[in-house]
Amino acid sequence: MNQMTVPYTDFAKMHRPLRSRLDEAWKRVMDREWFIGGEEDAAFEREFAAWCGAKYCVGVGNGLDALRLILLAVGIGQGDEVLVPANTFIASALAISYVGAKPVLVDPDPETAVITPEEAAKHITPNTKAMLPVHLYGRLADMEGFAALAKRNGLVLVEDAAQAHGAERNGSMAGAWSLAAGFSFYPGKNLGALGDAGAVITNDPETARKVRAIANYGAEKKYYHEWPGVNSRLDELQAAALRVKLPYLGEWTAERRRIAKVYRREIRNEKIRLLSEDEGNVFHIFPVFTRERDRLQQFLEEAGIHCLIHYPVPIHLQKAYTDLGYRRGDFPAAEELAETELSIPLYPGMSEAQIEYVVETLNRF
Ligand SMILES: Cc1ncc(COP(=O)(O)O)c(C=O)c1O
Repeated sequence: MNQMTVPYTDFAKMHRPLRSRLDEAWKRVMDREWFIGGEEDAAFEREFAAWCGAKYCVGVGNGLDALRLILLAVGIGQGDEVLVPANTFIASALAISYVGAKPVLVDPDPETAVITPEEAAKHITPNTKAMLPVHLYGRLADMEGFAALAKRNGLVLVEDAAQAHGAERNGSMAGAWSLAAGFSFYPGKNLGALGDAGAVITNDPETARKVRAIANYGAEKKYYHEWPGVNSRLDELQAAALRVKLPYLGEWTAERRRIAKVYRREIRNEKIRLLSEDEGNVFHIFPVFTRERDRLQQFLEEAGIHCLIHYPVPIHLQKAYTDLGYRRGDFPAAEELAETELSIPLYPGMSEAQIEYVVETLNRF
């Protein structure tokens, strides 16, 4: 095949067809001159809750805050331990640190890259208060298993659904399996805003009420502060943009799944390993694994195919977390994933020729 360029992702493919509707949405907000806590936010919250099959949605500033606000709302803090994967974006662990609690890391299953209830159970101590499984790359963790483990041990269960809008199992989507879930609408996410944004999804009215108040300086009534809250709200411009994009999320997810299916069927190279299959996956990221990762990345770059690594350093080896006292070798699966993972291009609007070129180049490696 002739050389071509395949970017890692391409926002224009999603935004160009929606451009006039996005322009109208901005204009609507500008005409109203109301920028925070208005009609767009309220409407998006109703629409996204319905989309997730949940009762409540609270729009917040970003995905990290969504997780942090849930932990604050349920009263996790100093002296508490929260279980979280060793292989996740650092935000999952930072949310725990920010409330004063201790992230206790769990090694993932190398076949799925998500943590299992069986492995998590080994880390439960009398100080464990909550578990925060991450639906990494768009794949649901075993939430039935986690719910049972949480119930047996009296733990709060929270989902990090930042990469998993619409990921499902047995008819229930990410966000519907726990007390509450944090979503990110960072532009590159499956549903992305045009800047930073996030949301909390829950079926519990009290958690929704507290998250909303804490995100608004701890006040339900202006200038009367019940909690020492923070400022983390979804603004009207971002909510308006998200409302334009949400109706297309189902189509975009179907397209992601279709491309992933082609990759699963056609990538045939004994040097390259894929994760096990999962029907409910929404493929925020399509990872491939090889012991020759750096050489593969260079080979693909030279062929015009841009890739990323998610993530090169596991949480326990991050400088920011030296205080946790972990050492290299403590989480062998997380370390192996970090050394061998490469995320290949997968995005709505990718052409058939680009998909084929990625497959052909990987098979040629
Ligand atoms: C797994 C995970 N958790 C949390 C976050 C935090 O989201 P945000 O960047 O919106 O703060 C992200 C994404 O950035 C993520 O990938």
